[in-house]
Amino acid sequence: MTDVSAMGPGPGDDREVLTNRQGHPVFDNQNQRTVSARGPATLENYQFLEKISHFDRERIPERVVHARGVTTYGFFEAYGKWGEEPIARFTRAKLFQEEGKRTPVAVRFSTVIGGRDSAETARDPRGFAVKFYTEDGNWDLVGNNLAVFFIRDAIKFPDVIHALKPDPVTFRQVPNRIFDFMSQTPEAMHMLVNLFSPRGIPADYRHMQGFGVNTYKWVNGDGETVLVKYHWMPKQGVRSMTADDAAAVQAGDLGHATRDLREAIDRGEYPEWELVVQMMSDEEHPELDFDPLDDTKVWPEDTFPALPVGRMVLDRNVGNDFAENEQIAFGTGVLVDGLDFSDDKMLVGRTFSYSDTQRYRVGPNYLQLPVNHAKEAAVRTNQRDGQMTYHVDGGGENPHVNYEPSITGGLREAQYPTHDEQGPVINGRVTRKRIPRTNDYEQAGQRYRLMEDWERDDLVKNLVGQLAQCDRPIQERMVWHFLLVEDELGLRVGEGLGIGPNDVRHLEPLASQDLTDQDRERLGNLG
Ligand code: HEM
Repeated sequence: MTDVSAMGPGPGDDREVLTNRQGHPVFDNQNQRTVSARGPATLENYQFLEKISHFDRERIPERVVHARGVTTYGFFEAYGKWGEEPIARFTRAKLFQEEGKRTPVAVRFSTVIGGRDSAETARDPRGFAVKFYTEDGNWDLVGNNLAVFFIRDAIKFPDVIHALKPDPVTFRQVPNRIFDFMSQTPEAMHMLVNLFSPRGIPADYRHMQGFGVNTYKWVNGDGETVLVKYHWMPKQGVRSMTADDAAAVQAGDLGHATRDLREAIDRGEYPEWELVVQMMSDEEHPELDFDPLDDTKVWPEDTFPALPVGRMVLDRNVGNDFAENEQIAFGTGVLVDGLDFSDDKMLVGRTFSYSDTQRYRVGPNYLQLPVNHAKEAAVRTNQRDGQMTYHVDGGGENPHVNYEPSITGGLREAQYPTHDEQGPVINGRVTRKRIPRTNDYEQAGQRYRLMEDWERDDLVKNLVGQLAQCDRPIQERMVWHFLLVEDELGLRVGEGLGIGPNDVRHLEPLASQDLTDQDRERLGNLG
């Protein structure tokens, strides 16, 4: 090996010497090789061609959603209990068991719709994705700052995102496209009431909540299952911005939230969140007026208390944005023993989508990258080869055996930890149907009624501002929905648009919706 450190430019400069990726020292980084000082370049110009062709490949496709974000590291510390009960009664997941047990985490906060360099002041959900490097392998909890979502079936995800993304012709985000879709999607009302309130623009990433949104399961040592929802509560409090605040911040900085987080950590002000979990028995719950597997709904906390199970502290910034933020890969399929999926139709679709996009975006060996690799658990697979193979995963004692079963020293299956699961047995025809209890308006109305006056004023102002740019039939349908959400909201938004209840009472319910008796009564009272 050449000792390049001995080849510095001269006495007095003890910095390390620049090389190329082959380890060759670079003697001249200013001029490419040419025939005489003014002459043509030559094709054997290895150093220049390596440098420029690597540069040509510096970008990978950005995330199709959540392209702009920031990653930081820290730890999760378990409380060992759910309320007064030892947590083992509900889940056997090792990271939760012992009070004080710490698990390293990587967390990525993001905006959803804009590209990699877009403004962090956008009215947009914020991503809140946590990777726990547990002793049983990695667990990803991929959430948002708002508790619900626009849609309840993953088959609608490309549609809702296309409506929210820029117009394919003009590349402008257009309210008419957004509300064209939303006006035909009654289940989106709960999300819209949140998104257009001040909560739709968090002040920064440190002062926002996180929600798993989808319903998951916990499995205990006897294989018994419960349904759970996860929420992160910031110890720093929750702060939001109005559209005017956001415009002022954006005028000076497109990346204020990333900067705020990095600088706080550099100052030693480590942000902290408490993880609280809601739980319900693993069944259909016909007594509820919503479906526990519907991600457009929250679970009322008076019936399903949110109990703390641990805390998370973020205390270290990344050393390189591309390696650790651009290439980090989260997915809802990444669970550990003791945690499981529910039949939530969004969750199932998400679970395919994440690893699918990451194989395309980062490459088939994305899990070999240090930020994605399990840190606290051994990785031993029979997977081999593929683009950018970085190393051979650990294997059995015989390197020739990359298959299973084998009696010649290959890997064996693990033993199932304790019991297999004992969740509910489900029977039914294969079909394409909406879930029975859609109840699209009630919780949206409750949310509106819970807001403070200034939040309601802001919500109405924001909705009117956007809807004023929409076609009249879209405006009318949105006013119709908002009247069903809450009279006052519908009347106020309608007033801002010059549309009264009499202008919308002729509208029929959408073919895509199931109205409750309560909704029908409200419809009858319109006007
Ligand atoms: C990112 C799909 C719903 C939270 C992504 C990505 C895809 C995707 C393809 C890019 C991943 C990557 O390139 O690494 C979907 C689909 C959904 C869905 C198909 C619905 C069926 C949701 C919901 C939430 C959410 C409901 C919130 C609970 C996130 C977050 C990220 C993300 C936080 C960014 C992860 C990161 O920081 O790398 N999603 N998503 N998504 N999604 Fe979803």
